[in-house]
Amino acid sequence: MFLQSHSIMTLLLLILSLFLKSSSCQLQCSKEILDDKEFSISMTDHTTAESGDCIWIPFNLTFPKNKVTPPYKKIWFKEDPQTNVDIQVVDNMKLESKNTFRINGLPRGEYEYGFKLEWGCNQTYIFPKRLRIYVSELTRKPIVRAYPMKEGQAATLTCRAYRLCSGRSKVHWKWTKADGQSTVQHDYDYDFHFHFQRGREISRFHLTPKADDHNTNITCVAEYNYSIVTERTVTLTVEFPPQILNGSQCVVEGKLLVCVCISRGNPLPPITWPFASLTEYSVISSSSIQTVNSTFTMPAADYLNSTVKCISSNGLGQAEIVIPIQNYTEKYGLDGSQRFDANLPWITAVSFSLNLILLTSLIICAYKRYKNMQKVPCDREENNTYASLKKADVQEEYTTISPKPK
Ligand SMILES: *[C@@H]1O[C@H](CO)[C@@H](O)[C@H](O)[C@H]1NC(C)=O
Ligand SMILES: *[C@@H]1O[C@H](CO)[C@@H](O)[C@H](O)[C@H]1NC(C)=O
Ligand SMILES: *[C@@H]1O[C@H](CO)[C@@H](O)[C@H](O)[C@H]1NC(C)=O
Ligand SMILES: *[C@@H]1O[C@H](CO)[C@@H](O)[C@H](O)[C@H]1NC(C)=O
Ligand SMILES: *[C@@H]1O[C@H](CO)[C@@H](O)[C@H](O)[C@H]1NC(C)=O
Ligand SMILES: *[C@@H]1O[C@H](CO)[C@@H](O)[C@H](O)[C@H]1NC(C)=O
Ligand SMILES: *[C@@H]1O[C@H](CO)[C@@H](O)[C@H](O)[C@H]1NC(C)=O
Ligand SMILES: *[C@@H]1O[C@H](CO)[C@@H](O)[C@H](O)[C@H]1NC(C)=O
Repeated sequence: MFLQSHSIMTLLLLILSLFLKSSSCQLQCSKEILDDKEFSISMTDHTTAESGDCIWIPFNLTFPKNKVTPPYKKIWFKEDPQTNVDIQVVDNMKLESKNTFRINGLPRGEYEYGFKLEWGCNQTYIFPKRLRIYVSELTRKPIVRAYPMKEGQAATLTCRAYRLCSGRSKVHWKWTKADGQSTVQHDYDYDFHFHFQRGREISRFHLTPKADDHNTNITCVAEYNYSIVTERTVTLTVEFPPQILNGSQCVVEGKLLVCVCISRGNPLPPITWPFASLTEYSVISSSSIQTVNSTFTMPAADYLNSTVKCISSNGLGQAEIVIPIQNYTEKYGLDGSQRFDANLPWITAVSFSLNLILLTSLIICAYKRYKNMQKVPCDREENNTYASLKKADVQEEYTTISPKPK
């Protein structure tokens, strides 16, 4: 009986305490009257940073400790008090922590942050003070090392990208050939590796350059969070031995033999013409990007051998070719405007030969006549030859000769 009444009492007390608890909560939840003078935050009102930089904002708080009791929340919000970006809970166990607001990098732009306290049952105090952050573009570019390379020899390019507060970067390489063609090499499709060294990410790029890669622009692109991109471009220097180009040739121009030799190499490969015995000749050379153009001129009459040699060399090697001589009729025989001039030596030669034949036959005839007194065949031959020569004008003569050599 006594025991029963005791348990009923306990039950009643429990119900009462539950009721009291809920009613007290409802009391707390009604908005407290807060005095702005009791709250203050001391911090800078603006700061600047570069994209991706860590931002630390130290601050001191003043608030009524009797009203704001643990557990309470220290909250940073961005622009709008509903947009919380950093929440720190202070409870009895873990009291005051360091008062520093940390931002792990922001992209370029202008930002505004505010601070509020939350405690008890939905109690909030929003500090009127605001923090403005001006974020400028990232100026730290990756560092790319590219030493002069030699054609066909393995080389390595390195790119060190800064590690930003906002996180690691993803690096890729971009090639822009001298002709403007661009390709992107991602880590997964090219042989390059990453590792960290003193806070920087290092990407190595292995390649075996070709002569063609000279003057290629290679760009190391580092991409960070929030689309922060930074890059550095270097221009490759690839050394290669001389190579004589196809445009090299010799032509006979009037009384001159003109030979052109074009060679490409890096460093520039000077051209020499080994004609030690000649005294009368001239050489004109010009050069542009990695190409040397040398023109050698000599009197065609001095040209005795059937070959003209051109030699080009630089520190990496030597190239030499025997330049073929374009047939003189090939060049001028087909070109109408230059026909007459060009063929004058031919005509002279032909009429000289004909005269020679005539003279010879005259001598022979005279000799035969003198010896055998056989007149008739010789006289006819003589007249015919003369007739054809007399009739033939220089131009007409040419028309009969020109097509023959082809
Ligand atoms: C916070 O208070 C400390 C000591 O009272 C002071 O040295 C510091 O400058 C204050 N910091 C700010 C951001 O006001
Ligand atoms: C407490 O806050 C929550 C969420 O913000 C809201 O839904 C609720 O109505 C608030 N209660 C009181 C009593 O203000
Ligand atoms: C950067 O981006 C990665 C992947 O998107 C994410 O996991 C990481 O948390 C981000 N870092 C920061 C500091 O925002
Ligand atoms: C390579 O880079 C240089 C300087 O950065 C620039 O002047 C040149 O136009 C670039 N060439 C190509 C093909 O993009
Ligand atoms: C020269 O021409 C030949 C045939 O026309 C070609 O096979 C060769 O590759 C050319 N060489 C160069 C250096 O252009
Ligand atoms: C080489 O030089 C000659 C004479 O200076 C010029 O006519 C020719 O076009 C040049 N050739 C090249 C490929 O530069
Ligand atoms: C002609 O060729 C011979 C042997 O190939 C050489 O010894 C001589 O010097 C050459 N003459 C000229 C004028 O180049
Ligand atoms: C020049 O022409 C002659 C006869 O037409 C020919 O036999 C010779 O092969 C030609 N030479 C060259 C280098 O074209």
